[in-house]
Amino acid sequence: MIIKDAQFICSNTQVDKCPQTNLPEYAFIGRSNVGKSSLINMLTNRNKLAKTSSFPGKTQLINHFLINESWYLVDLPGYGWAKVSKDSREKWGKMIRAYMRLRTNLICVFVLIDSRHEPQASDLEFIELLGALEVPFVLVFTKTDKQSAVKTDQNIAAFSRKMRETWEELPQIFKTSSAEKAGRDEILDFIDATNKQ
Ligand code: GTP
Ligand code: MG
Repeated sequence: MIIKDAQFICSNTQVDKCPQTNLPEYAFIGRSNVGKSSLINMLTNRNKLAKTSSFPGKTQLINHFLINESWYLVDLPGYGWAKVSKDSREKWGKMIRAYMRLRTNLICVFVLIDSRHEPQASDLEFIELLGALEVPFVLVFTKTDKQSAVKTDQNIAAFSRKMRETWEELPQIFKTSSAEKAGRDEILDFIDATNKQ
């Protein structure tokens, strides 16, 4: 797919203020600093479309981007950062649950997982929440440029083993590096194949 046009539309804390639309929507979520905003920039080939930072917690709102005037990418705030207050964590939970329940145009959630680490409880818990809410999702293992391909595959295998403890079927898995622009075609092909209505 060729991205001809990518526009920032709006940022919201309230789901009912998000664009009222039937256009297909794809959301990006994962632990703070996993590389959600960077991946959106890499996919759209726009350096500064989504705001990135080396400091966790940069994205705090639900951000809608309209692509080729025909579908939305959504950058969501991350979870799992230890320094976040209980109050903020509860607000995040409410907002994300509402987002997942109310966006009837949501086709798929991309759950980003840092490929450098062993399986993390916060990722596994978030995936359980998506399962409970019956939201379709795929996994994206990010930052693969940061270690060897062997290490990446070991960490993905460990994560898959953990998931098999509770899931009968494993979701589709992508590997990406925003630094090296790896995994772009695979994700865009997936979006292309799933957003024909
Ligand atoms: P929050 O909005 O804070 O939840 O973070 P985020 O998940 O949107 O992460 P963001 O895209 O802001 O990236 C966090 C940091 O990781 C930045 O310093 C990025 O440059 C870096 N980063 C993201 N993706 C990659 C990658 O594929 N490779 C490398 N080497 N660094 C990356
Ligand atoms: Mg972000």
